[in-house]
Amino acid sequence: MIYLDNAATSFPKPEPVYQALDRFARTSLANPGRSGHRMAVRSDRMLDDGRHALNQFFRGEDPDRWIFTLNCTDALNIAIKGSVNPGDHVITSDLEHNSISRPLRALEKAGVISLTRIASEQGYIDPDAVRKALTPKTKLVALTHTSNVLGTIQPIEAIAPIVREADALLLVDAAQSAGVVPIDLRATPIDLLAFPGHKSLYGPTGTGALYVGPRANLRPWREGGTGGDSASETQPVQLPFVLEGGTPNVLGVAGLVAGIAWVSEQKPDVLRNHEVSLLQRVVDWAEATEGWKVAGRWDAARHAGALSLIVPEGFHPLDLGLALDSAFEIAIRPGLHCAPYIHKALGTFPDGTVRISPGPFNTPEHIETLLHALTDITAGVL
Ligand SMILES: Cc1ncc(COP(=O)(O)O)c(C=O)c1O
Repeated sequence: MIYLDNAATSFPKPEPVYQALDRFARTSLANPGRSGHRMAVRSDRMLDDGRHALNQFFRGEDPDRWIFTLNCTDALNIAIKGSVNPGDHVITSDLEHNSISRPLRALEKAGVISLTRIASEQGYIDPDAVRKALTPKTKLVALTHTSNVLGTIQPIEAIAPIVREADALLLVDAAQSAGVVPIDLRATPIDLLAFPGHKSLYGPTGTGALYVGPRANLRPWREGGTGGDSASETQPVQLPFVLEGGTPNVLGVAGLVAGIAWVSEQKPDVLRNHEVSLLQRVVDWAEATEGWKVAGRWDAARHAGALSLIVPEGFHPLDLGLALDSAFEIAIRPGLHCAPYIHKALGTFPDGTVRISPGPFNTPEHIETLLHALTDITAGVL
């Protein structure tokens, strides 16, 4: 299989990740911090290592400000539902994944919040559009760092100070950027940073994290055992436990820690450049081939490893995806990519696009095989 669906989840994982998962599962997979015996202590230490690794990688304030979550959706829901109150105004964009759009739309429909969805231009959010949408009631600005449909990197460094000046909270969805686009929490005033562990940080599925900055005071919506303070009738108030009820995915964290170490060694910029150079070939091909179009504005300097192609008239992205899989053993993602608003803005709703998202282990030969396959399918060779 030629796997070009790394924006959904990365595959394969780097070898040290498989080794860490195997080692931890065989030697240390006890319930972290619950029982006090040496295996439980070892398991708890892995969570601690994970918080330190994240804090160092993203330059956060304190390892205890990192919450382990099930995935990015979980992290975003904890941030959104834990921060807004009735009457608040929230700003978001048309680039968002449903993991931001749906909870916000549900809160808007229930009359809890008012919502402004700013329009991107060819895949990019203008910081001035955020400034104009702010009101005295704006509590939260929830934006993606990199579009999962287009791969366009948003100017978060310019947006963050605008949001901070207005005294609102900034929630950044780094699902497509964490691990490939450098994020420095000490240089950029981001209050809440959410991402999965299973994409460009190379942990397994079932991992994710949320950074809770000092200005954010989140209500927990999941309460339960935390391994300590058992006599307390209610959830302990201190981070990270206040937001981490229940047994955490410590095995996943063991894989994530190995993934972060691998990314640090390789360097995010180097990983991004590799993916973008593979996509540059796809862009050149689409521009030279009748019927195909790149969705959004291609700017290699502001792009991560995902690209959407608008397919020739008479073809359906789903059929192309099926043909690539069944006849060529190539994995891509066709359709709407859980982000309907940007497809509406691009005019590709409801059929969507063909999304290609290479990873560090893809080669130029993989891309040539894909382009030949697309040529054959649309020429009716199949
Ligand atoms: C931009 C963006 N946000 C959020 C998510 C949700 O991530 P998860 O599947 O880890 O919940 C994704 C997943 O593809 C994404 O691309």
